[in-house]
Amino acid sequence: MLNWEETPTTSPADNAIANSAAASEAPAAIASNRVRASDKRIINGETDVNQLVPFKYKWAWEKYLATCANHWMPQEINMSRDIALWKNPNGLTDDERRIVTRNLGFFTTADSLAANNIVLGTYRHITAPECRQFLLRQAFEEAIHTHAYQYIVESLDLDEGEIFNAYNEVPSIRAKDEFLIPFINAIADPNFKTGTPEADQTLLKSLIVFACLMEGLFFYVGFTQILALGRQNKMTGAAEQYMYILRDESMHCNFGIDLINTIKLENPHLWTASFREEMRDLFRQAVDLEYAYAEDTMPRGVLGLNASMFKAYLRFIANRRCQQIGLEALFAQEENPFPWMAEMIDLKKERNFFETRVIEYQTGGALSWE
Ligand SMILES: [Fe+2]
Ligand SMILES: [Fe+2]
Repeated sequence: MLNWEETPTTSPADNAIANSAAASEAPAAIASNRVRASDKRIINGETDVNQLVPFKYKWAWEKYLATCANHWMPQEINMSRDIALWKNPNGLTDDERRIVTRNLGFFTTADSLAANNIVLGTYRHITAPECRQFLLRQAFEEAIHTHAYQYIVESLDLDEGEIFNAYNEVPSIRAKDEFLIPFINAIADPNFKTGTPEADQTLLKSLIVFACLMEGLFFYVGFTQILALGRQNKMTGAAEQYMYILRDESMHCNFGIDLINTIKLENPHLWTASFREEMRDLFRQAVDLEYAYAEDTMPRGVLGLNASMFKAYLRFIANRRCQQIGLEALFAQEENPFPWMAEMIDLKKERNFFETRVIEYQTGGALSWE
């Protein structure tokens, strides 16, 4: 119950909450304290984080607008065909069912990790308000993704205990999460703050791990599997949810890459040879972890896919992520064995991917006063 009499408690001071100290100064001094775009920095900035404009990082604001234009909600997607297929004992093979339950086992908790990483970790260390604006939107989208996975679990009447505990109980999923969690903990530690080369590298490492390896690599075996089901006209409601999530995630990944590259430009001293080598080593580990997950989810060939095809795919993606942040490619030139995935990522938002969506958000969500 709400209690209006309660004394507000003060939260621990956060040096990035209000950097402006202009309030009690003379008018001339106040004018000179106004935020100049050229003074803004992505990390360790000293400009007021409460003032969105003047913009310096237009790309962040434009990506924020683009993500808002892509708004969707899980319950807009009709799951009735999926439910009928799942309940039909002959509707799916055991291997196809394993793909669905393993996927949900990973993703139901993965997006909560992503959200917590932003809210409890990344956000307070980023001092450009236009980038914070994107992160706020991203955090909400991660909540929508967790909602979407829960909506699928609920629709199919799956064993919630099994699905939500998979990240503790299924070794191939646990291994991916154990790889990620230290990078969240490092920057979510209340004692952690940026401002030294070591601390700034810790933050940069965490950004690279989340954008390039979590959102940019760890999601791709699962996305490909569920979309392959959809392409065979199976689990089309779930596949459509994944399409929307994939579209959001590719935006998160691209934003993260722009963020990383801008931090590099502003802080070239962080990008040392040993740091780059450490990053390439993390990429190698991530490819191995995701490949182990592919093998676990596909003990046999299924849907025209098999684990070894993913070896090439993961190398292809890892090379691309390396190049996007200016690291040398890790593997010899790899071809994309799933060119249809590239087409899916580029699909326009208006497309009703599998003809299951019941509401077009931008009209369905508009206010009407009549
Ligand atoms: Fe997500
Ligand atoms: Fe994301």
